[in-house]
Amino acid sequence: MRTKIADILKNTATGTEVTVKGWVRTKRGNKNIAFIALNDGSTIHSLQLVVDVAAFAEEQLKRIATGACLRATGLLVASQGGGQAVEMQAREIEIYGAADDFPLQKKGHTLEFLREIAHLRPRTNTFGAVLRIRHAMAYAIHHYFNERGFIYLHTPLITASDAEGAGAMFRVTTLDMQNPPRNDRQEIDFTKDFFGRATCLTVSGQLEGELGAMALGDIYTFGPTFRAENSNTPRHLAEFWMIEPEMAFYDITDNMNLAEDFIKYLIGYALEHCTDDLRFLSQHYDKELIDRLESVAQTDFVRLTYTEGIDILRQSGQPFEFPVAWGIDLQSEHERYLVERHFQKPVILTDYPKEIKAFYMKQNADGRTVRAMDVLFPKIGEIIGGSQREENLEKLRARIAELGMSDENLWWYLDTRRFGTAEHSGFGMGFERLLLFVTGMVNIRDVIPFPRTPNNAEF
Ligand code: 4AD
Ligand code: MG
Repeated sequence: MRTKIADILKNTATGTEVTVKGWVRTKRGNKNIAFIALNDGSTIHSLQLVVDVAAFAEEQLKRIATGACLRATGLLVASQGGGQAVEMQAREIEIYGAADDFPLQKKGHTLEFLREIAHLRPRTNTFGAVLRIRHAMAYAIHHYFNERGFIYLHTPLITASDAEGAGAMFRVTTLDMQNPPRNDRQEIDFTKDFFGRATCLTVSGQLEGELGAMALGDIYTFGPTFRAENSNTPRHLAEFWMIEPEMAFYDITDNMNLAEDFIKYLIGYALEHCTDDLRFLSQHYDKELIDRLESVAQTDFVRLTYTEGIDILRQSGQPFEFPVAWGIDLQSEHERYLVERHFQKPVILTDYPKEIKAFYMKQNADGRTVRAMDVLFPKIGEIIGGSQREENLEKLRARIAELGMSDENLWWYLDTRRFGTAEHSGFGMGFERLLLFVTGMVNIRDVIPFPRTPNNAEF
């Protein structure tokens, strides 16, 4: 029976014989004794195997090198050396797979290099830590909503509608690309395509999420999301995961309260349950990580309108690369100025100009702004985007027409406003943006196992 190293370190008494299975991180020693650090992925900590060289065949010990996979059985004893409380006196070692010329040697590989071997990087301490935290956050998200009576709604990945109206979608088709069917006007005839219409990968589950909220009350989605925007930045992925709660009878204030509580809960959960991994990341990448997490978990977020935000930016005297004027879409430099310099805490900006936001947001009485809310975070910029929704059918249709969008594909969405409409709100949190904040990693490619970005879909 195999025991996981995490369990051994948590509650196995010394003097017990155990079996562990894992991958060799390092091997060192002399002609009498060898020390093997074995990691099985269950914890950042490796178990030290102490090997009496004379008791094993020389050939066998030679095959044990960094990257090799093995089983070891032996007695757990209090460690003689520093650095660990317990170690194993290996009595029996079985090599499952050797690893000649393993590309990951002891340490010092850059994150850039590790991206080129993304298939092996989970074997490093860094990616082990990040991926365990990623798991813990996913678990905590489901826990949070379940405790509050939200229903996990599975919204489709293949869709015929562009929820965000941004047009950055990936086409899904089974048509022959060499010779697609054409209509009278020589356009590609998507009525001959698999679904009888043009379809794409979803940019958001929100529209279907709203249908769920108008039946079940409170729902959330948590799934992959696809955007074909060609933005090669440390904060954008072409395939990312998004959490989208949608709540009937919530106004924008209720929505902000939920977003703030949700994010603080998740940070608190990480601090409580991912201590060892956070400590490792903080030691190796970002000394202020844990302090920053603790401080955000305890601070009230600042709430102000877009218009107030623009005033602050204009009065700041900062030489921004993108000039500030009412109506602009805020750039990351603007968001970060507000959060990191001006307020030094997370900020929720509301009531954006309608021209820079999606069609479904509730229109304010001023005729220029909508009831949007973006949560802006230190180091990240926008981590959450959401709004109160326009629940009035006529206003919503007018906005769709004003934007030159067709409501043909949206008849089912508009039906929520025809049949039993009500005030409702929701938001979307980028899962990887959250992970950037929680892990202190600076590139979004380093918080997802296999990143999809322009020119990058190898693994
Ligand atoms: O602000 P966005 O575009 O909002 C929506 O999609 C709404 N339908 C959400 C809703 O109200 N239900 O995206 C929401 C969040 C952003 O704040 C950001 O954290 C993340 O999704 N995001 C991305 N993360 C990684 N890579 C990208 N390309 C992202 N685009 C958005
Ligand atoms: Mg947004």
